[in-house]
Amino acid sequence: MKQPFTLAAVFTVLVLLHTGQGRDLRTVTEPKNPPVCTTLKPSSADETKIIQDALHTCAKGKAVALSSGVFISGPLVIPSGVSLLVEKNTTLRGSTNPKLYDRGNNTCGALDNYGGGCNPLITISGATGSGIYGKGTIDGRGSSKMLGSNITWWHLARNAVTAHKQQNNPKMIYIYNSTDITLYQITVVNSPFYHIESLLTFGFTVWGITINTPGSALNSDGVDPTGSMNVTIAHCNISTGDDNIAISSLHAPSKYISVYNNYFGHGSSMGIGSGTTYGVSEVTVTNLTLNNVRYGLYIKSNTLNGGLVTNVTYDNVCIYDSPWPITLDTRYYHKTGNHTPEFKNISFNNIRVLTNGTFTLHGVSKSNLVQVSMKNVHISEGSKWSVSNAQINGTWEEDASGTSCGIPANENIF
Ligand SMILES: *[C@@H]1O[C@H](CO)[C@@H](O)[C@H](O)[C@H]1NC(C)=O
Ligand SMILES: *[C@@H]1O[C@H](CO)[C@@H](O)[C@H](O)[C@H]1NC(C)=O
Ligand SMILES: *[C@@H]1O[C@H](CO)[C@@H](O)[C@H](O)[C@H]1NC(C)=O
Ligand SMILES: *[C@@H]1O[C@H](CO)[C@@H](O)[C@H](O)[C@H]1NC(C)=O
Ligand SMILES: *[C@@H]1O[C@H](CO)[C@@H](O)[C@H](O)[C@H]1NC(C)=O
Ligand SMILES: *[C@@H]1O[C@H](CO)[C@@H](O)[C@H](O)[C@H]1NC(C)=O
Ligand SMILES: *[C@@H]1O[C@H](CO)[C@@H](O)[C@H](O)[C@H]1NC(C)=O
Ligand SMILES: *[C@@H]1O[C@H](CO)[C@@H](O)[C@H](O)[C@H]1NC(C)=O
Ligand SMILES: *[C@@H]1O[C@H](CO)[C@@H](O)[C@H](O)[C@H]1NC(C)=O
Ligand SMILES: *[C@@H]1O[C@H](CO)[C@@H](O)[C@H](O)[C@H]1NC(C)=O
Ligand SMILES: *[C@@H]1O[C@H](CO)[C@@H](O)[C@H](O)[C@H]1NC(C)=O
Repeated sequence: MKQPFTLAAVFTVLVLLHTGQGRDLRTVTEPKNPPVCTTLKPSSADETKIIQDALHTCAKGKAVALSSGVFISGPLVIPSGVSLLVEKNTTLRGSTNPKLYDRGNNTCGALDNYGGGCNPLITISGATGSGIYGKGTIDGRGSSKMLGSNITWWHLARNAVTAHKQQNNPKMIYIYNSTDITLYQITVVNSPFYHIESLLTFGFTVWGITINTPGSALNSDGVDPTGSMNVTIAHCNISTGDDNIAISSLHAPSKYISVYNNYFGHGSSMGIGSGTTYGVSEVTVTNLTLNNVRYGLYIKSNTLNGGLVTNVTYDNVCIYDSPWPITLDTRYYHKTGNHTPEFKNISFNNIRVLTNGTFTLHGVSKSNLVQVSMKNVHISEGSKWSVSNAQINGTWEEDASGTSCGIPANENIF
């Protein structure tokens, strides 16, 4: 009778593991490239129309392949069920002509008080089962001068800060109101604005992609799931100038999110926020290495855009060279309004922070504490804590050191 009992115990443990952490409710495995409907070779002219026509005539379930060389294109729309495959040794370069991206007010590539004047380089909207695949590169050319201008997209972004205005720069990949979308293996670089954003998207897999953009590029977020559910971001290598990942919920809840086996080089954070109005919950971040990432594990909001952030677990994270390795801030930019943020049930398990920094836990008030738990948390000697309105279960030890997290944290990553 011993064996059945053991099996029952194992089964119980598995069920507990399965339900014990918020995560993508789908069973997600490594994606496979779809079959190709047509393969395009580059000419030397603008390729927008040729690629767009091929996407429109491609059968659902198949992909338009771009092969060997450099393609230059303005905005593209990937239809429902169709994918784009950028092959190895192939680059899709965004046009530097702001007029091609303009949404009708002739503001793309200029400053104004609104922002939002440009269409993205690639849009997936109202689609099911579309994706972007391949070992090639998509280059947003943020460092190139805009056509008809003497400055670059990134220079415009810096000008916006000094002028207290909004930039009008294109995002690279924008996914809206869609289901079952996949990004696989692709390398995405030099975005003029966010690299990848999903809004109101249910079922979103980002697997094995690379983002590599200089740390000085403003607003160049890596992957931003917002108002999205059933999201998996795995086996990715992300280095950029702003949040490497930022999960937000300004328009709808973000929930059931798994982030695992990722490596972040430079950037701003593994972030949640700052818009959390509709709530962010059921998020698990496992097996992550942060190397030279400013705010480390970051949850940021304020009473302007706040909401409930809960059931978030960080497990097996190594942080190296971060001035603010863990930051929970309910007063982001000191903006105020009537949407009070609440950060509850945030768990830090098996965390190593190898270099000293300032740890910040700031709740809203004595009646609205930030609630965190810590298990097996090791930080470096000489670290500082800034804690107010926080409840901390468990504790940390100041016994971590080392010159690197090991790259990657485990061989399973890439
Ligand atoms: C999330 O995935 C689960 C499992 O496939 C599914 O039952 C559920 O409907 C999905 N939720 C959303 C919002 O798509
Ligand atoms: C990719 O390009 C490099 C340099 O141009 C070349 O050496 C290599 O053979 C190419 N690989 C493939 C698969 O075409
Ligand atoms: C264009 O400008 C008008 C008036 O300022 C504004 O209402 C509209 O939202 C703008 N459209 C876009 C796409 O920026
Ligand atoms: C969302 O996409 C569906 C098609 O899948 C479309 O029918 C619907 O109008 C879209 N909704 C919005 C708000 O864009
Ligand atoms: C771009 O040109 C404007 C005027 O045409 C000039 O004021 C500005 O300094 C120039 N900027 C750069 C970076 O050359
Ligand atoms: C991550 O990508 C960078 C380029 O962005 C590359 O230099 C580095 O080798 C990659 N890391 C791994 C472990 O593949
Ligand atoms: C995290 O890494 C460990 C050790 O390499 C591995 O056993 C585990 O499967 C990884 N977790 C996930 C979710 O892949
Ligand atoms: C806290 O969140 C974890 C998942 O991250 C969940 O398993 C646990 O039940 C939650 N605890 C409470 C008290 O809600
Ligand atoms: C957080 O987890 C608890 C325990 O599993 C669950 O009862 C609660 O509904 C979760 N909260 C959210 C916002 O999903
Ligand atoms: C902290 O411990 C208290 C009392 O055991 C419990 O009610 C609460 O849920 C715990 N909070 C977290 C974030 O684990
Ligand atoms: C923190 O780390 C820096 C860089 O390694 C070191 O110079 C400094 O002395 C450390 N501070 C403390 C208080 O240990």
